Amino acid sequence: MESRRPSSVLLLLVLLAAPLMVASAGPSSPTAFLEDDVVLGAVARLGKGANASGRGGARCDVDVDISAVVGGPSRERGASGWKEEIAGLAGRPEMAAWLRRVRRRIHERPELAYEEVETSRLVREELEGMGVSFRYPLARTGLVATIGTGRPPVVALRADMDALPIQEAVEWEHKSKNPGKMHACGHDAHVAMLLGAASILKARERHLKGTVKLLFQPAEESGAGAKRMIEDGALEGVEAIFAVHVSHQHPTSVVGSRTGPLLAGCGFFKAQILARRAGADPVLAASSTIISLQSLVSREADPLDSQVVSVAMVNGSFSLGGDPAAPLVLGGTFRAFSNASFYTLRRRIEEVMTLQPRVHGCEASVDFFENQSFYPPTVNHPRMYAHVKATARALLGDAGYRDVPPMMGAEDFSFYSQAVPAGFYYVGVRNETLGSVHTGHSPYFMIDEDVLPTGAAVHAAIAERYLAGGAERDGDPRSPEQEP
Ligand SMILES: *[C@@H]1O[C@H](CO)[C@@H](O)[C@H](O)[C@H]1NC(C)=O
Ligand SMILES: *[C@@H]1O[C@H](CO)[C@@H](O)[C@H](O)[C@H]1NC(C)=O
Ligand SMILES: *[C@@H]1O[C@H](CO)[C@@H](O)[C@H](O)[C@H]1NC(C)=O
Ligand SMILES: *[C@@H]1O[C@H](CO)[C@@H](O)[C@H](O)[C@H]1NC(C)=O
Ligand SMILES: *[C@@H]1O[C@H](CO)[C@@H](O)[C@H](O)[C@H]1NC(C)=O
Ligand SMILES: [Zn+2]
Ligand SMILES: [Zn+2]
Repeated sequence: MESRRPSSVLLLLVLLAAPLMVASAGPSSPTAFLEDDVVLGAVARLGKGANASGRGGARCDVDVDISAVVGGPSRERGASGWKEEIAGLAGRPEMAAWLRRVRRRIHERPELAYEEVETSRLVREELEGMGVSFRYPLARTGLVATIGTGRPPVVALRADMDALPIQEAVEWEHKSKNPGKMHACGHDAHVAMLLGAASILKARERHLKGTVKLLFQPAEESGAGAKRMIEDGALEGVEAIFAVHVSHQHPTSVVGSRTGPLLAGCGFFKAQILARRAGADPVLAASSTIISLQSLVSREADPLDSQVVSVAMVNGSFSLGGDPAAPLVLGGTFRAFSNASFYTLRRRIEEVMTLQPRVHGCEASVDFFENQSFYPPTVNHPRMYAHVKATARALLGDAGYRDVPPMMGAEDFSFYSQAVPAGFYYVGVRNETLGSVHTGHSPYFMIDEDVLPTGAAVHAAIAERYLAGGAERDGDPRSPEQEP
């Protein structure tokens, strides 16, 4: 998640565009999430009284039937036994220790987009250890694991595996051992949490009323791994998909989401402007192009539909002793919260950037980096949003869930959300004591690892309850079968 970095040149754009993004993010107040000191270690607490531990490691004893321990024989759909049972599995100390180990191993060996070779191998070895089958490879390093009946309905959960080209600045035992690379967005935690979910779902396979597909994808930060996963068939038969992202804005283990647009569509553009006749001036052409771009948001867009177009880089040396044949380069970024606005902006930027220079006797071509960092908005389906919310509240209590404002960052999860009804949510990792207060993509980024069992439990519960018809019930407030 967060801003895309297609090249070192465009890194500059991200930094320059940052104040704009903040300004356009609306009345979001991080402190709103921090008022209450809620549900830290929620799963561990829920796990009490649901004691399913005492046997083997977190991922081996897949046959424990803890319904016998907790609530007697498993009850019908709509019964609440699943909460204690899932929380019990997630809350075992062995589970927390295993998830921490997995996450730290991945953290120490961060790999960039489409290079997630060791990470992918680790995932496959863990799945094999659990007896979970999978398809590999998709999108080069990705894989899709399958748990359940093997028949419809099919629900998908997704984790991203890639790291960032950032040098870790956190001094700790498990600091990145790959120079210049770091899991500064928490994708190491996402992989661990989805493996945790695999372990829980495998243990509860007999309760699944359909199939869960677990997508471990490459290249979220750059390279549109999600798009490649879809091209390689990751969504075949899938009728809904969910994913989680860690967030430093929420206290540890608090889940946040919203209905509709959650994350912006995000694109970059870079135009090369060249003089095409004597006296043509690419600097003047660029100036008038920049001015014209300003009117796309201020005069064309619906003022109630947040959009950003920001030119953040100009590079040229025409008639200053530089090479007159070298193009003038204009670069920038654009954001929008609806699919239609996103693609309209793209089209209009291209028109302005190619046509306006012609007025000045120049010619221009535009690159939108479509294979790298061209991510449409992430839009939550109302029913999937309601299902995330109801499941999180059932599992973590009312204080364990918050509605959150939309953010200007972007996610390639949007490609899934365009293909099937989707629910994307955050889980908090903020802990002032530990110092896990830094934003994603900061070299100081760190997480409160206590989040791992919670994330695993929420993932698993969302999938299991979806297959039990949960999204139908959660999506209709008049339904008599509402979850407690
Ligand atoms: C959980 O079970 C284990 C093994 O049976 C036992 O040692 C432990 O005391 C139990 N914990 C709780 C909270 O009941
Ligand atoms: C600016 O353009 C010059 C000449 O083409 C090039 O050498 C330089 O790397 C460019 N700088 C950036 C930040 O793109
Ligand atoms: C973009 O990716 C597609 C595959 O998804 C590939 O066919 C195409 O050649 C790529 N384009 C460029 C410019 O790399
Ligand atoms: C988004 O817009 C593009 C371009 O108009 C279109 O191809 C695509 O189908 C749209 N997706 C959705 C989910 O509407
Ligand atoms: C933060 O982490 C520490 C160490 O794990 C833990 O003791 C504490 O309960 C957590 N929560 C807060 C609010 O500090
Ligand atoms: Zn990121
Ligand atoms: Zn991310």
